[in-house]
Amino acid sequence: MSQPLIAPSLLAADFANLQRDLNLINRSEADYLHFDVMDGEFVPNISFGFPLLEAARTHCQKPLDVHLMIVQPDRYIDAFADGGAAIIHVHYEACTHLHRTLTHIRERGCQAGVALNPHTPVEGLIDVLESIDVVLIMSVNPGFGGQAFIPHTLPKITRLKQMLVANQSAALIEVDGGVGVGNAAALLQAGADILVAGNSVFRAADPIEAVQQLKNSHRP
Ligand code: DX5
Ligand code: ZN
Repeated sequence: MSQPLIAPSLLAADFANLQRDLNLINRSEADYLHFDVMDGEFVPNISFGFPLLEAARTHCQKPLDVHLMIVQPDRYIDAFADGGAAIIHVHYEACTHLHRTLTHIRERGCQAGVALNPHTPVEGLIDVLESIDVVLIMSVNPGFGGQAFIPHTLPKITRLKQMLVANQSAALIEVDGGVGVGNAAALLQAGADILVAGNSVFRAADPIEAVQQLKNSHRP
């Protein structure tokens, strides 16, 4: 059984000690650094943008997993590709021409991700599956770190996994929001491949150990 990929979320880092926290991630078994961009319109919060991306790219050795919680994300795909993103997630709910957007992300050499809000059914992806590298299942309403995991996400992941298998899709399943050692095994059992973890890593007594525990989570 393969280990999950772990993506600590920078949103939960201590920005007054950014280099220290990025070094913790560098020394950990994390596979990505999750980078949450919020515009105050798609979600009721504003996070950070290009200056922090530059700092992350300079000081973090992990590939950047960029989660765009913004309206009209097409406006910024080139800038995030130029900024070193490995994966760019756009929200399904924010894209009028999703196929075009995903194609653009791939043309820029990045992996194309689609994020789904908790109320958005996975079945809406059926006609763009060939253009998707990663599906990001939101297990909280996006906008804030430290929220409680929404339980109906688990059967949703199971349904998505079944849909991917039935359509011979190699897309990975990423889960974001309220993820920690308490629910990691169940998420993997349902079909998750990548776990985003903000507070459960950065607010742990030992963030490196917290990443390792998530990495060693086993399907029950
Ligand atoms: C929420 C963000 C998440 C957040 C996760 O809108 O997309 O990536 O940072 O934080 P935790 O793991 O603390 O729920
Ligand atoms: Zn996120």
